[in-house]
Amino acid sequence: MNPTPASAPTATLRSRIVGIDKKVPLLNGELATYVNLDNAASTPALQDVTDALDRFMPYYASVHRGTGFKSRLSTLAYDQAHEIIGRFVGADLSRNTVIFGKNTTEAINKLSYRFPVGPDQVVLTTQIEHHSNDLPWRSRAKVVHVRATPAGRLDEEDFDRKLAQYAGRVALVTVTGASNVSGFLQPIHRLARKAHAAGAKILVDAAQFAPHRQVEMKPDDDPEHLDFVVLSAHKMYAPYGTGALIGPKELFLASGPEYCGGGTVDVVTLEDVHWAGLPDREEAGSPNVVGAVAMAAAAQALMAVGMAHIAAHEEALIAYSLEKLRAVPGIRIYGETDPGRAHEKVGVIPFNLAGVSHFKLAAILGYEGGIGVRSGCFCAHPYVVHLLNLDEHEAGTWRDQLLGGDKSNMPGMVRMSFGCYNNTDDVDRLVAMLHQIARGDYQGDYRLDRATGEYIPTNYRDPLEQYFLLAPTTAQAGTA
Ligand code: ALA
Repeated sequence: MNPTPASAPTATLRSRIVGIDKKVPLLNGELATYVNLDNAASTPALQDVTDALDRFMPYYASVHRGTGFKSRLSTLAYDQAHEIIGRFVGADLSRNTVIFGKNTTEAINKLSYRFPVGPDQVVLTTQIEHHSNDLPWRSRAKVVHVRATPAGRLDEEDFDRKLAQYAGRVALVTVTGASNVSGFLQPIHRLARKAHAAGAKILVDAAQFAPHRQVEMKPDDDPEHLDFVVLSAHKMYAPYGTGALIGPKELFLASGPEYCGGGTVDVVTLEDVHWAGLPDREEAGSPNVVGAVAMAAAAQALMAVGMAHIAAHEEALIAYSLEKLRAVPGIRIYGETDPGRAHEKVGVIPFNLAGVSHFKLAAILGYEGGIGVRSGCFCAHPYVVHLLNLDEHEAGTWRDQLLGGDKSNMPGMVRMSFGCYNNTDDVDRLVAMLHQIARGDYQGDYRLDRATGEYIPTNYRDPLEQYFLLAPTTAQAGTA
């Protein structure tokens, strides 16, 4: 059931999720309705998105270059998509631009090429970040990491200390809006105020934030304004290969694009080039129009429901989950464990079960429970090592093994993560399986693949091809 009333605006979302009722095969040969608790990695598509694409695809054609009706219509849809995403994040589009790309990672990499920062300047980030909001900056500037508290929250005193320590040198503060590991929400507007007072800009990685909370860039002259926001459509119910970078036009007009070619120019001579306006100059090559339309359709659907309603639904579900999970023998939940503080995070809950490797636990949930979760370090090694409280020796031993090709002892956690459509039945299915596994009551004989860390049940043939297979290639057909 829904943790919120049937009359709530979120109540119909579940029925609008593509594939929500799909049954999947279990190890024992039975079928079970799939429970997707891996939304922090990627969400399924909303029917609103596929409906919009069904309406759009018959008219799809090239954008910006063609003169035919379909090209004119596709150009209009693509331009509208920019405007809708700008509205979704509350950007002032007279001063800011929306640039579509592949995903958040690409958006941050793009900004790392364009943001004016010298090797002596500091990019202040945090220990909590996804690798995508850390690694792109390391070759551009001195990257300083604000610590996390032992519970995994941002240590804001350390933030203040480091901002003061590097006074005059901090060009950019870059923080996640919500952690993809613990779900903790960061005080982004307070950090923005502090960053601006120190003469720095702020980038918010909203990949995990945007599907759960209202992004508000705020007016450019507001001290709490977010200078740059990046987000991914595949985490907001539109998995068609699009992400967006939203930021000040001024910055992108100050230099030529880092990728250039078709679509980025107004005039080219053999000697010279005049770049096009925004966002064209930043979207080299034929753009992913379908992905942009899908992302905009998802944003419209989320705005129509209202992000505040989605947040309330998810908070209730987090509180319910923390309450239920606490009763599982041997469970260790990381980050926030108090149901009364569910509002401090988005729907991401990492945990471990005593005596069962996180890889194996995730495998049993998948093969025997029909429950999708993710396990491991979630592209956030420093943060996960911190949450697990591993000392340098333990972490070093694991790294050596991993670099030697053996992932069997890789530390990590299992992560359940909600979308706006999950309900208490989903949580109950997971919790019931955890109780079973804690009792040692599972069937499979799992073999560890040391190279990948995956646990695979022995004597089991995964019937994947019965569910989806692209047409066989000529070579395969010939050998059949
Ligand atoms: N960043 C995504 C995750 O956390 C892929 O799973």
